[in-house]
Amino acid sequence: MLDLFSEIEEPEREELKALRKELEEQNYKYYVLNAPTMSDREFDEKMHRLQALEAQFPDMFDPKSPTQHVGSDLGKKGFEQVKHRYPMLSLANSYSREEIEDWVRKLPSGVEIVCELKYDGLSISLWYEHGILVKALTRGDGQQGDNVIDNIKTIPSIPWKIDRTDIPEFFELRGEVLLPWERFEALNKEREQQEEPLFANPRNAASGTLKLQDPREVARRGLDAYLYYMLGENLPGATHYERLDTARQWGFHISDAIKVCKNVDEVMAYIAYWDTERKNLPVATDGIVLKVNNLAQQEELGFTAKTPRWAIAYKFPAEKQLTLLKEITYQVGRTGVVTPVANLEPVQLSGTIVQRATLHNEDFIRSLDIQPGDRVWVEKGGEIIPKITGKEQSDEVQSTKDFSFPEVCPECGAKLVRVEGEAAWRCPNEAGCPPQIKGKIEHFVSRKAMNIDGLGEETIDLLYRQNLLHNIADIYDLKLSDIAAQERLGEKSAQNILDGIEASKQVPWARVLFALGIRMVGETTAKKIARKYNTIDALQWATAEQLCAIEDVGPQIAENIVAYFNDIRNLEILERLRQAGVQFEGEAVAEPTSDKLAGLSIVISGTFSQHSRDEYKAMIEAHGGKNVGSVSKKTSFILAGENMGPEKRKKAEDLGIKLLTEDEFLGLLGS
Ligand code: IVH
Repeated sequence: MLDLFSEIEEPEREELKALRKELEEQNYKYYVLNAPTMSDREFDEKMHRLQALEAQFPDMFDPKSPTQHVGSDLGKKGFEQVKHRYPMLSLANSYSREEIEDWVRKLPSGVEIVCELKYDGLSISLWYEHGILVKALTRGDGQQGDNVIDNIKTIPSIPWKIDRTDIPEFFELRGEVLLPWERFEALNKEREQQEEPLFANPRNAASGTLKLQDPREVARRGLDAYLYYMLGENLPGATHYERLDTARQWGFHISDAIKVCKNVDEVMAYIAYWDTERKNLPVATDGIVLKVNNLAQQEELGFTAKTPRWAIAYKFPAEKQLTLLKEITYQVGRTGVVTPVANLEPVQLSGTIVQRATLHNEDFIRSLDIQPGDRVWVEKGGEIIPKITGKEQSDEVQSTKDFSFPEVCPECGAKLVRVEGEAAWRCPNEAGCPPQIKGKIEHFVSRKAMNIDGLGEETIDLLYRQNLLHNIADIYDLKLSDIAAQERLGEKSAQNILDGIEASKQVPWARVLFALGIRMVGETTAKKIARKYNTIDALQWATAEQLCAIEDVGPQIAENIVAYFNDIRNLEILERLRQAGVQFEGEAVAEPTSDKLAGLSIVISGTFSQHSRDEYKAMIEAHGGKNVGSVSKKTSFILAGENMGPEKRKKAEDLGIKLLTEDEFLGLLGS
């Protein structure tokens, strides 16, 4: 009897498990990725069904079930530590081509060698059970690592699920997590603006990112991954190359720069080619990895305690040079931070001439114990930013004098201050120090802020020197004749600038707030603040405590905002901006209002007259729909504006997908 019952119950128990999984995934997509793929209604219905099933089978109670916690507690503190199934070893490194030749020659004759790029990121081990990504472990100490699966799931090229029947029950794929150069540079730029410490290279940035507790921030930063090693039992293929090729067919991101080499000459040609070509890749590489292709031969060669005998890494030569530190000069930024800069005897490094390098701050200089007259090592940190890594330890080189950091601002003579707990010295003369004045104006007009075309660094400098531009409000008093009278500026470019100034009056409030240049209020933070305080008047009266309630706003940022509005000079400038017509009010953020568009995938294409694309996106989401980027057979309809792209139009016609005009769409929502 009992058996019979459990057989009847079985499908329902399976359904319960499947629902837990599905809802957990949806929670993740909703709360973490901000990209739900299920309507709220469907989610709620499934949640009810799961609750009913859990009530029916109390023996299956699980505190981790989605019924037992709210979705927002994802991204929790700390990571689960998991023992690796196979230890995560490293590779023997070699730095000369001779060593590589030697290694190849010692292999049994006729052995095929797979050459791959050595990606410079962090290693990751992905576990797939029944085709589902169940763990993503960092190397840790090689024996056990941190499970950073929530962060790994933000990488679009890593599949969460492999929908195939021809895959083994369990397999593991190892690879490298990387932050592409472009993302790395953007991140550092943003950090510079927000006065946060910069990452020295993409590897540090990737590592910092992977250990973040907030997967939303991880997603925003845009990690990528390349996979290069498959492990497990009963895996297909007799060679390493075949396995990677199989992994590629299963949907994994495998580099195309993999080559089977038959002899040492082919290996050398590969190394020579990639030594220069790698500079064009979107991600950082620091060498080449050579692996014996045949898996049976790999097994025969086996492992030492730390590294496989069947593989070796060739590291590209470190690009560094010794040169003379001629002088240390000091740069004052828009927020008054004084940055020391090394002026070097020009030296050739990775194809460019380096003659200046940042020395960051006083502590950095002291830690390297350098001063003018020393011979110093210059490296290209992350191959892009030159950095000083040390000095030549030699008795012959005598430092000329003791280093001391200036006490007054090199630009305006004000006494410098160093805030406790900060590494930087600052010039406090905000309103009277030329680089701070010009820097604030440059920031205000920059693309992501007010986007005033034509008002570049040089023009700002010219107008500043002519006494026409002393603060951001002066911009709106500029006259055509003032600008056109400047050297190198004709009437046409002057008119362009004026048009840009006029257009900036339409820039939305969130970007205006960013443009004001309040210390540490970057683009993203400004957006979050503007969402909560949709007028400047409301923001002006907010207390530090209230501001801290906003996501991403800590006590320091809150203090900076309060201090900004307590400064009468800023209030005067704001009043003039208001008079000029700058937007100090935003639209109230639409709360979800209905599920009229629940379950629909909607593409927005073209330009619109009644609302912006972002506003339409917000509307779609507010009504339970999903805004997707490309047209497919799953697209429900296209919200089509003027000048819709011809490709999208054709695809829509081919698939028989309806186009809705702005008016039709608004009619549909009843607004
Ligand atoms: S194979 C058992 N292939 O380099 C050997 N490693 O110092 C498994 N790496 O820990 C590694 N690119 O993080 C392999 N194409 C590649 C690689 C690669 C980068 C990293 C990896 C490893 C380290 C070795």
